[in-house]
Amino acid sequence: MRIAVVGSGSVGTGLAKSWSGLGHSVVIGSRSPESERIVSLIAEIGSDVSAAGLAESVVGADVIVLAIPWSAAKVSIATLGDLSGRVLIDATNPLANGLSLEIGHDDSGGEQVARWAAGAHVVKALNVVDARLLDGTKLDDRKVSIPICGDEAETKSLVSSLVGELGFDVIDAGGLEAARLLEPLCLLMIKLSMKKSLGSEIGFRVLRD
Ligand SMILES: NC(=O)c1ccc[n+]([C@@H]2O[C@H](COP(=O)([O-])OP(=O)(O)OC[C@H]3O[C@@H](n4cnc5c(N)ncnc54)[C@H](OP(=O)(O)O)[C@@H]3O)[C@@H](O)[C@H]2O)c1
Repeated sequence: MRIAVVGSGSVGTGLAKSWSGLGHSVVIGSRSPESERIVSLIAEIGSDVSAAGLAESVVGADVIVLAIPWSAAKVSIATLGDLSGRVLIDATNPLANGLSLEIGHDDSGGEQVARWAAGAHVVKALNVVDARLLDGTKLDDRKVSIPICGDEAETKSLVSSLVGELGFDVIDAGGLEAARLLEPLCLLMIKLSMKKSLGSEIGFRVLRD
């Protein structure tokens, strides 16, 4: 599968490494694809990864992942061009200053992304997992759970297999409106990560019979 990962930070790099290692073709969409940093990043990952400018990165991509700061989301989505009919994974969190969200309760970043990326098939996913675990690291010998949500069953099924391939336990949390619940969960995750007594790597797991 051809995957465009927009953003070359912790999340973008982690996903590019893992998905390319699994045989997917990954293009990192960057504001400066020819910079020294990105050139050495691509060389370090080595396998089937390349870098391109934002608009170019999504050409021909089966799946696009938004892995950029919330403050850059609107402008970046506009730069990507017409996204109608495209599968868009929103991994962002609409963080405001301090431990808070810029949007919530009766709306969410995921729903706002869907409005900005008119016509795209948006799935909120990967926003609650620490980027350091994107290689599928298990904790307590168990897969970390990743809740996802979106309005189209077919798109969710595709995203579910891609995220599952990374080594996660994927949980369908419902329609895109559930992003209102997934995004605050990231705040709890950040807060708990700051508690050194819990160790350096933590993740959520949904237990069931
Ligand atoms: N870090 C985590 O553990 C984690 C986990 C789950 C979700 N998230 C969410 O995922 C998103 C990305 O997180 P991250 O930790 O990967 O962020 P990051 O390390 O800060 O990287 C973000 C990347 O976005 C690109 N970008 C585009 N416009 C930008 C701008 N105006 N300012 C700064 N960077 C810009 C940059 O790539 P170029 O310079 O190449 O354009 C940058 O490397 C965020 O919304 C975050 O809340 C993070």
